[in-house]
Amino acid sequence: MALLEVENLKAHFFGRRGVTKAVDGVSFTVEKGEIVGIVGESGSGKSVTSLSVLRLVDAPGKIVDGAIRFEGRDLLAMSREEMRQLRGRRISMIFQEPGTSMNPVRKVGFQIAEAIRSHERVRHPVSTRWVHQRQVVCVWGSVMARGGG
Ligand SMILES: Nc1ncnc2c1ncn2[C@@H]1O[C@H](COP(=O)(O)OP(=O)(O)OP(=O)(O)O)[C@@H](O)[C@H]1O
Ligand SMILES: [Mg+2]
Repeated sequence: MALLEVENLKAHFFGRRGVTKAVDGVSFTVEKGEIVGIVGESGSGKSVTSLSVLRLVDAPGKIVDGAIRFEGRDLLAMSREEMRQLRGRRISMIFQEPGTSMNPVRKVGFQIAEAIRSHERVRHPVSTRWVHQRQVVCVWGSVMARGGG
């Protein structure tokens, strides 16, 4: 089973002057341990695809079709509380302006470890090495998700 499956995803924005089909039938999978990059010109829907995976597309935008499965579970059918449990712990997003979300004087691995530390009660210290070995399994575009753990 793929870690993440996105199937025929459609996320549209309903504006006064019509509908913007920001994401219109995107499909991809990410296996555990795999790194997937999504490439496209500005405005082609990379960020909206990532936001959809976290179910963070807000009005006037809406996911209108498709399926998003994380470890086989349908994210689009989850309650807000179930989604909240996943966000930051199992799936997180590094937002587009890295200067505002990342500290340029710290290594990225340290900062990912820090995020896990702040979301989970782990009994042992979360080292960067531990993150590399066990936790971080995929990064795509500006989103990273992790499996195992
Ligand atoms: N809140 C919003 N309201 C209306 N339209 C939006 C909104 N957010 C995004 N869009 C539209 O969705 C489309 C996809 O935008 P998106 O931000 O996903 O592009 P992107 O590929 O991430 O671009 P970039 O490389 O510049 O980051 C664009 O046409 C954009 O105008
Ligand atoms: Mg973007």
